[in-house]
Amino acid sequence: MKQVTKAILPVAGLGTRFLPATKAIPKEMLPIIDKPLLQYAVEEAIDIGVKEIIFITSHAKKAIKKHFLQNKDLEESLLRHGKGEYIQSINPEKFKDIKFTFVDQNEQKGLGHAISLAEKCLTEEDEAIAILLPDDLFIADGKSCLQTLADLYNETSSSVIAINEVADEKLPNYGVIDATKISDSTYEIHEIIEKPTIEEAPSNLAVCGRYILTSAIFSSLKKILPGSGGELQLTDAIRDLLNSEKVIASSYKGAKFDCGSKQGYVEATISLALANKDINKDILKSIQALIS
Ligand code: G1P
Repeated sequence: MKQVTKAILPVAGLGTRFLPATKAIPKEMLPIIDKPLLQYAVEEAIDIGVKEIIFITSHAKKAIKKHFLQNKDLEESLLRHGKGEYIQSINPEKFKDIKFTFVDQNEQKGLGHAISLAEKCLTEEDEAIAILLPDDLFIADGKSCLQTLADLYNETSSSVIAINEVADEKLPNYGVIDATKISDSTYEIHEIIEKPTIEEAPSNLAVCGRYILTSAIFSSLKKILPGSGGELQLTDAIRDLLNSEKVIASSYKGAKFDCGSKQGYVEATISLALANKDINKDILKSIQALIS
């Protein structure tokens, strides 16, 4: 079995929930403290050994491309102004041997459609691919969410999906699984439904934006029809995959923020500020003053 070396990050959404901030800046480029939201997911992928990041983009392309490719002019200007210490932050060592690929999604036909566009970037060598939905920000104490999936994939050769438990009223926002528990933190999936009603939901176990899927997912993506919201859903392709392969769910227990919502975005900012040694004491004082 080959190591997972490619990751797909869909970033073509219009970011309507964050307008007007997202009129000129892609939602994924909004900062959490001093780093764009998207960079957290990119680093999570690189940390498991991914060598190629495939962005599925549209209007977002320009700023994202600019951010991840080297900017020699800015580096020279920083050096000229005696600010060379910032170069590492705009051109991290981590990105050195990483290939950043940009695939256009010109029509908004759903997550399944976005992922299917990455097929042309795969070779026969790629037995599985990582998918990260950058709106979901995971802050793990130890192993990252994607690393846990990668370890399980290396152990089982099966597709693995991250899930977490959500309250009933939140189920209609997610893909929800029906599954049998196989260990403390893993399940074998029998059924998966995109954005069910509370009554339809087979459990409280919801898919949260990290997947490692075998490349058979691309055949399944070709078979699906528009589903929830009239869009081509990745969830429906995973349901098709279940007819031919085992798919495992891994329960994620660390902190997770849905930065696609204003509440999640602000919570992530506060949480990372309180974890940042340079600013946490002052931030805590400010928060205490605000609520007292
Ligand atoms: C997508 C997936 C859904 C998953 C969710 C996780 O939905 O379609 O299955 O549970 O991400 O954040 P979206 O948030 O794009 O509506």
